[in-house]
Formats: sequence, structure tokens, C-alpha cells
Amino acid sequence: MTTATAIACSNIALAKYWGKSPRGRNLTAVPSLSLTLSGLRTRTTVSVDATLSEDRVELGGSVASGRARERVVGLLDELRTLSRSRRFASVASHNDFPTASGLASSASGFAALALAAQAAFGLSLSRAEVSALARRGSASAARSLFPGFVELLAEAESAEPVAPGEQLDVEMLVAVTTLGPKETGSTDGMRHTQATSPYYPAWVTAAPVLFAEAKQALLARDLERLGAAMEHSTLLMHASMMAARPALIYLRDSTLRVMECVRQLRAAGSAAFFTMDAGPHVKVLVERANSARVSAALAAIPGVERVLASAPGPGAFLVEE
Ligand code: DP6
Repeated sequence: MTTATAIACSNIALAKYWGKSPRGRNLTAVPSLSLTLSGLRTRTTVSVDATLSEDRVELGGSVASGRARERVVGLLDELRTLSRSRRFASVASHNDFPTASGLASSASGFAALALAAQAAFGLSLSRAEVSALARRGSASAARSLFPGFVELLAEAESAEPVAPGEQLDVEMLVAVTTLGPKETGSTDGMRHTQATSPYYPAWVTAAPVLFAEAKQALLARDLERLGAAMEHSTLLMHASMMAARPALIYLRDSTLRVMECVRQLRAAGSAAFFTMDAGPHVKVLVERANSARVSAALAAIPGVERVLASAPGPGAFLVEE
């Protein structure tokens, strides 16, 4: 039996990915730019075991079935092909943040799985190869292989680092809002948007322009300009979802209250900028010096259950058991 364990942190897209390329293989239709966090981690252990007659997948302490299991098995299948192995594996994955809260876990989850599984199958793939493997599981996961600010270009096989976390003196605050009914997952949500939203083509045209603006601003250490592009990116993405039929509305009243609070804090002089993914929670990029003050203001908003603060963090890494 060969075992490997990896840890990966979540990443939050500043310029969003939403929609697949017609070329398939889970390639993305638009470029994205993200920040890897130091918190919201997944720890995954993979053991390749000659005594198993099928893969065994355990997520957060429960045996996985259905689509969640299939996605993991799909990645293990690729590694069996690459390593010319017929062995099955047991996978155990834990998040250090509550998944029931609806916080995205596929990015850190597939990054940790890809890194641990290739090691357990005896391969020593390059970072780019592991990123490409993670991408085929979940595109946003490709970015969690790298630290700090990371890009995944449209139709790119793997993500690439753009700048270290120290490029800007920032933190990401995650305002966890009260949950409504279970959300539509990203994969289904983007397929539905792509198929039915008249605004989807406009999103695909606008997203690369915003990505370029965000990247330029980041490289110039211009937080104001990065924040402006970041807010526009999330609002355009959500506009394309809302124009789907039936509409895909992830934002809740508490989400809008947090956005309003961020705008007020900004008007009063704090550099703070919001972004939302396929859920009601709001991630707020803040200058580190303002982080505690902004966090306290967000925590006081009705419907905000808690605020998690995270500095820029490392790319996924293997750990000794
Ligand atoms: C809104 O990477 O979860 O978080 O590739 O189908 O697994 P799949 O989708 P996923 O989508 C993430 C979408 C997003 C924006 C982003 O992270 O860029």
C-alpha cells in the first residue's frame, strides 16, 4: 500500500470563471484571476491498496456515493492510466471549514486530491501537470496548486502564478450569510446559464477585458483599480445567471446588505471590495490595516453568521503523516 497526504487551501476568483469552452475537457471559456487563501483548507489522504476491489471515497467522514464519488473516481481513473496501474484507492478528505455552510469546497478539494493521488500512484508530476489534473476535476481547483495571485487563462490546460501574496497587503474576509435552500452547484449552474441566458455571450465578451484590467492593476499594485474590476466581474457574472431561464439567483437579502455595507465603508475611506460566487456568501478584499474594523462591521449585519479572515496563502503541498 502506498499512501500520500496533501493539503490545499481555497482560492477566491477576483476575475471570475463561469462557463466551459466548447473544446470540452472542462477547459474554461474565459480567463480568471484568483487569490489563494491561507485558510479554508482541505486535507486529503489517498492510499493505493492492492486488497481493494473498488475505490473507496470518504468525504468529511461519510462514504460518498453518486456524482460526488464519480468525480473523484474519474480523477483516479486518469492516474491509473498514467501510471499503468490497475489498483484501487481509498480516499479520505476533510475540510477545516464547515461545508454545510455552502462555502465552495471543490477548489481546495480537487487540488488536494490531485496532488495526493498522483503521489500515491507513484508519479512525480510537475506542478503544471497536477494543476491540469485538478482542472479536469473542477476548473477552479487548478488555481489552488499555486500560492498568492494565480491565473487560469481561457482554454488553458493549467493555472499559472502571477504574483506572490505579498504583492498587495491584503486579506480576504468571508462573510458567511444565513443559508437558504440548497444551491445549484457551479457545474450545473454554468451549463444552465450557457444554454439559456441571452446575457451569456455578453459575459464571455466582457470577462477577458475585466481579467486584463484586474491583472494590470494587480501588477501595478493598484488596489482601487483591482477592486473596481473585481466587483464588476462578479456583478456581470451574476447578471448573466439572473438572465438564465429559469433564473439562477444566488444572492440573498443578507448578500445585498453586505454589498451595501462594503460600499458605505468605501465611501468612508476604507479600501474594501466585494465578490460573490455560486452562493449567497460575500468575500471582501480589504487592506490588512483595515481588516479588523471591516470584519467587525460585516459581523454586525443581520443575516451574517460569522466572518472568517484569511491572509494570502500557499499552493497545495504534500505532508508527511
Ligand atoms: C463562481 O470550478 O466549481 O467560483 O469546473 O464545473 O467544477 P467546475 O466549476 P467550479 O466553478 C467556479 C466558479 C466560480 C468562479 C471562479 O472560481 O472562478
